[in-house]
Amino acid sequence: MGEREFAALAGYLTRETGIVVTKHKRQMVSGRLVKRLRALGLRSFKDYCALIEGPDGRGELENMVNALTTNITHFFREPHHFDHLRSRVLEPRAAEQPRRPRMRLWSAGCSTGQEPYSIAMTVAATLHPPGAWDALILATDIDTNVLGRAAAGIYSAEEGETIPETYRRRFLRHVHGEPDRVQISDDIRALIRFRRLNLHQAWPMKGPFDVIFCRNVAIYFDKPTQHRLFNRFADLLVPGGMLYLGHAESLIGLTDRFEMSDKTVYRRR
Ligand SMILES: C[S@@+](CC[C@H](N)C(=O)[O-])C[C@H]1O[C@@H](n2cnc3c(N)ncnc32)[C@H](O)[C@@H]1O
Repeated sequence: MGEREFAALAGYLTRETGIVVTKHKRQMVSGRLVKRLRALGLRSFKDYCALIEGPDGRGELENMVNALTTNITHFFREPHHFDHLRSRVLEPRAAEQPRRPRMRLWSAGCSTGQEPYSIAMTVAATLHPPGAWDALILATDIDTNVLGRAAAGIYSAEEGETIPETYRRRFLRHVHGEPDRVQISDDIRALIRFRRLNLHQAWPMKGPFDVIFCRNVAIYFDKPTQHRLFNRFADLLVPGGMLYLGHAESLIGLTDRFEMSDKTVYRRR
């Protein structure tokens, strides 16, 4: 991949998704897209750029985005966030609104589903009996490949090992005939709606949300995109609603619409 092709493809990616890839990632971009070239029977990145720019470009753009997103995740990543969610959001709400309280949560950039399932298990274990709560989790991602896997809720038993044991016993089932695979239970899956959503474009939903998790997503965006995104989250959160960010992310210098609640957890003012 030459410099010119890299610049063109990186430009498309940023305009479409907000994701910024710097020049030193050229090798990585090339490595991930070479599979697309092979699948399409193209001989060079120049031809690939021509395809993206041509009349059928939109269809291939989705494949390009799927290939270039980074989807690393695991169950109960940064466990202190789930302790915070339980003790600072769910339990106080249960105490103050004992009659079928409504709780709307959003996992923005949910990847293969481990984050929204961790949220759902925390909700189900705290707010019981389940029918006594009007709780729903919206889980969105731009990558159409990961969403299919997320909705199926099937993982290797090894992936399930970071789930606390009590939750594992309660919310995981063995997949019939496949001893090394587990599936998330139906009651947990029923709490989640998986949808494709590009954080860099218009959003169909109006909110409001009580909680937004957007962890290890904005880290790939530049500062002006992060600024816009966090202000849009503030618009959709109820006053006092919580925003959970990844361990290397912060709102400092980006927006004053939140105050800190805990490490990488922010409360909407
Ligand atoms: C590293 S994963 C983080 C998964 C999970 N939130 C976690 O912390 O474990 C980042 C996810 O953000 C998604 N993503 C990147 N840009 C996006 C955009 N513009 N709109 C929606 N999702 C995006 C990627 O597809 C990827 O699945």
